[in-house]
Amino acid sequence: MTNFDAHWTAGSTPQGAAGTPVIDLHEVGKTYSNGTLSVAALKDASLTIDAGEYVAITGPSGSGKSTLMHILGCLDIPTQGRYLLAGEDVSGMDEAKLARVRNRRIGFVFQRFHLMSALSAVTNVELPLLYSPGVPAHERQQRAIRALTRVGLGERLDHRPGELSGGQQQRVAIARALVTDPDLILADEPTGNLDSTASTEVLALLDEVNDAGKTIVLITHESDVAARARRTIRVRDGEIEAANNDHAISAPATSTNWGIS
Ligand SMILES: Nc1ncnc2c1ncn2[C@@H]1O[C@H](COP(=O)(O)OP(=O)(O)O)[C@@H](O)[C@H]1O
Ligand SMILES: [Mg+2]
Repeated sequence: MTNFDAHWTAGSTPQGAAGTPVIDLHEVGKTYSNGTLSVAALKDASLTIDAGEYVAITGPSGSGKSTLMHILGCLDIPTQGRYLLAGEDVSGMDEAKLARVRNRRIGFVFQRFHLMSALSAVTNVELPLLYSPGVPAHERQQRAIRALTRVGLGERLDHRPGELSGGQQQRVAIARALVTDPDLILADEPTGNLDSTASTEVLALLDEVNDAGKTIVLITHESDVAARARRTIRVRDGEIEAANNDHAISAPATSTNWGIS
């Protein structure tokens, strides 16, 4: 047990029913149509990602990574095929339902952090809990403080993003992604705006998050970042080229309660 996951209480099964993949794509396609023009940005993508995996999605510019990420993140729906997220079919959901699923099941980490500049670190981390029904204000704050402590920012609770380094801001974003105890952490070029020292720090933190049992999908075009994951999925011309779908790495035997509850 590392110092990091020693902070957590073991015991719950955060990734839903045992054996249910976190991500299950069946022949998913996405065609963008505007008037007469249509672009098949994603074709026949089938993919399974199990609870506890750490997977990188990589590919050249224009290959369809963002399209795939938007579908995986329930930011958009496919035009063909079926997507089960933690066993729940999200393929045909309307925007209101998708928003609820996103909030409940996914923690996002973006290249540009997407923190609210006027708010303190702790208030930023509390934000996703505002949309989770039934979490009282006091508990929201306690959970945010615990999440920030766990990413090493217990001494920076009241700092605003502008008073933090890039690496620290990304750690706030990771705390915000974890505070709802999601099924999936979806990180889109999480080190794209960081210098090499801060990148190393953030990647080490993601390793710890995965070691503690969280499923991570990381989108990157950098091969050294992709190498941190245990499995790499390559996208080219809208097709999944190498999914290495043999599940050589199994989920950790024990999982950790990220519920901060
Ligand atoms: N909203 C859109 N409308 C039309 N075409 C799009 C749209 N978004 C992406 N595309 C096209 O789909 C393909 C894949 O794009 P994208 O998923 O952004 O690739 P990547 O993230 O790997 O650079 C590209 O040819 C792109 O031009
Ligand atoms: Mg992109």
